[in-house]
Amino acid sequence: MNYHIIRTKLASAGIDTADLEARILLEDIAGIPKPEFFFRRDEALSEAVAQRIQAILDRRVQGESLGRILGYRDFWKSRFYLSADTLEPRPDTEILIEEVLRDHPSPQSILDLGTGTGCILLSLLQEFPHARGTAVDKAQGACVTATENAKRLGLENRVTVLNGSWFDPLPADSQFDVIVSNPPYIPSAEIRNLQAEVKNHDPILALDGGDDGLNPYKFLCSNLKKYLEPHGIVVLEFGAGQENDIARIVKDSGANLIRIANDLSGHPRVIKFTYGDN
Ligand SMILES: C[S@@+](CC[C@H](N)C(=O)[O-])C[C@H]1O[C@@H](n2cnc3c(N)ncnc32)[C@H](O)[C@@H]1O
Repeated sequence: MNYHIIRTKLASAGIDTADLEARILLEDIAGIPKPEFFFRRDEALSEAVAQRIQAILDRRVQGESLGRILGYRDFWKSRFYLSADTLEPRPDTEILIEEVLRDHPSPQSILDLGTGTGCILLSLLQEFPHARGTAVDKAQGACVTATENAKRLGLENRVTVLNGSWFDPLPADSQFDVIVSNPPYIPSAEIRNLQAEVKNHDPILALDGGDDGLNPYKFLCSNLKKYLEPHGIVVLEFGAGQENDIARIVKDSGANLIRIANDLSGHPRVIKFTYGDN
């Protein structure tokens, strides 16, 4: 077995990211360092490594994502470990990080609502070494995983992880410079149409946004102002085709829209706004 064989097996199972996944398997399972990949990708693998990779391929072609099989996913600059209660971080969510970095020079306090693995908050804390973060998630298992990821990244002293629904676990008078969230946004009836690797492996609490997929945005936007410093910013991720509805919900809440940013495929994906002067 070598790179081309792995790649071909993945591609013939209809996996669009066959190149990338074959490369991850060679780097992570065969232990080929990234800089040596192009010189060593054709070398034959040992029997033991080939067997491990074959076992992963067997699960992968059955519709489990590579991240779920390996138990981690790389996001922004770090590796985030997953559990049954966490969404697998997606590359498009990195746009949210870019939008916070774009024009907020040095927030002191960041709130992440629905933190999952903690990938958004922990990545932002790595970028803003003087900031402190608060992560909230309704799933207790997600809170455990986010806490473990914070420890692995040496950020545990700058993070408070709270278990509960949205604003409920926050002290009443808390206010933040930056509030971020990638809430669940799939309309309930559409969940059964999602790819197997999503609907069978990502937790339902991380996906289900209610009848129209917009319930979390309506609830968040009717409460955000109270928890935001006067010149603070909010950055929210949303789903495909939701930009007009989200912009309306945001504006109806009295916010000033700063920008809607596109994802890696060019589709609107992230909205940034403030309740202060724009
Ligand atoms: C789409 S996932 C995003 C996870 C992570 N922030 C990311 O971007 O990978 C949404 C998260 O919101 C959490 N969640 C759902 N309803 C919630 C609620 N009422 N209060 C707090 N968290 C909630 C889910 O458990 C899940 O971790």
